[in-house]
Amino acid sequence: MNAPLAPLYPAHLATLRTRADQALALGGFDHLLVAASMPLGKFLDDQDYPFVANPHFKHWLPLTDAPGSWLAYTPGGKPKLVFVQPHDYWHVVPGAPHGYWVEHFDIVTVRSAAEAVAQLPQGRSAVLGPACPAIDGVTANNPQAVLDYLHWHRSYKTPYELALMREASRIGARAHRAAEASFRAGRSEFGIHLTYLAAARQTDAELPYASIVGLNEHGAVLHYTAFDRAPPRESRSFLIDAGASCAGYASDITRTYAADGHGEFQALIASMDAAQQGFVSKVRAGQSYPELHVHAHHVVAGVLREHGFIRMSAESAVESGVTSAFFPHGLGHPIGLQVHDVAGFQQDEHGGSIPRPAGHPYLRMTRVLEPGMVVTIEPGLYFIDMLLAGLHDKPVAADIDWARVDAFRRYGGIRIEDDVVCTDGAPENLTRDAFAQPH
Ligand code: GLY
Ligand code: MN
Ligand code: MN
Repeated sequence: MNAPLAPLYPAHLATLRTRADQALALGGFDHLLVAASMPLGKFLDDQDYPFVANPHFKHWLPLTDAPGSWLAYTPGGKPKLVFVQPHDYWHVVPGAPHGYWVEHFDIVTVRSAAEAVAQLPQGRSAVLGPACPAIDGVTANNPQAVLDYLHWHRSYKTPYELALMREASRIGARAHRAAEASFRAGRSEFGIHLTYLAAARQTDAELPYASIVGLNEHGAVLHYTAFDRAPPRESRSFLIDAGASCAGYASDITRTYAADGHGEFQALIASMDAAQQGFVSKVRAGQSYPELHVHAHHVVAGVLREHGFIRMSAESAVESGVTSAFFPHGLGHPIGLQVHDVAGFQQDEHGGSIPRPAGHPYLRMTRVLEPGMVVTIEPGLYFIDMLLAGLHDKPVAADIDWARVDAFRRYGGIRIEDDVVCTDGAPENLTRDAFAQPH
């Protein structure tokens, strides 16, 4: 960690307490009980899926491996951590709580999830946790009014959270550099993936999402996670979308590279990179995110024209759906405790939903940007056979240079993704800052 967390944590906790006070008052509750949650067992098996802690739990505590534990908060009181540390010689037992945050909690250590439940306060409680797997002795009620309030305010990151997200970005950038070198050394997708994990020093299960590591045409599969074990005969292009975690916070980073000797594809990457940085510069307070998304379509249309793929105007490329065939996903999404963080569509702290602009079904963020929000900016330009086939029968097909399009299918596509903080002034680009740091 570059930044010391101890001085930042008390203000973070104070913010969460104030938010919890408000949320509980709205819902008419006396206590907030947050389950870390339980591991999910595999069907007809004695194995569990990797444990993923309830994001509400991770919001309060930098504990990502605490199955069965609880946070209990009563307005006016010190928050309580009921920490499960089983007597178990089969598995690694979560270590005793330590570090900058423990002095701010009353900590009770118990030996089982059932004992933890017995430690929870009685009364009218908002109980936050997944319904499945169930926790014996307590039912999560996840009151909507409480969730709406907390989710809305989770959009505004505290300085403590931003410090953790900077670190998640730093780890991700380090691993991305190693992955690029592995691509340039001619490794397979699987080999590059292993290089990435080693450089991140994180296991697959610890990453915030399944890495996308695609060579050549595989860059056109938006969520390509197959990992060919053998290198292709020729590695022409490389798209990697991979993040890292820090104390439960995510980074989400995509880079696209051209191999030496593929200058035209490199030039297309350079144009998309310039476009992406232009969008990043607009991550400012008051900017409507859906308007930025639609603006991005116009800019991508310009890139398509500049590189000779289309002959129609940018306006008609957007209107006729041509840009949606080349750029068929949203410009980005909120990010934080979850890679696709909550409240991207929320109208206000009482809930509601802001619809997506017509014709843009995959956009995950429809709000106006405000200081403290963190969003990804991830425009793409792909050569996806299925979507291009859909353009063939349309009148606009006459204004597409199909020979040029066909020549680029072997590169798959381009996505460039940074995580960006909206501030009171200029945006903070967590990703580019992390890449700029010494190795
Ligand atoms: N890696 C998932 C995303 O970019 O949204
Ligand atoms: Mn993303
Ligand atoms: Mn991504």
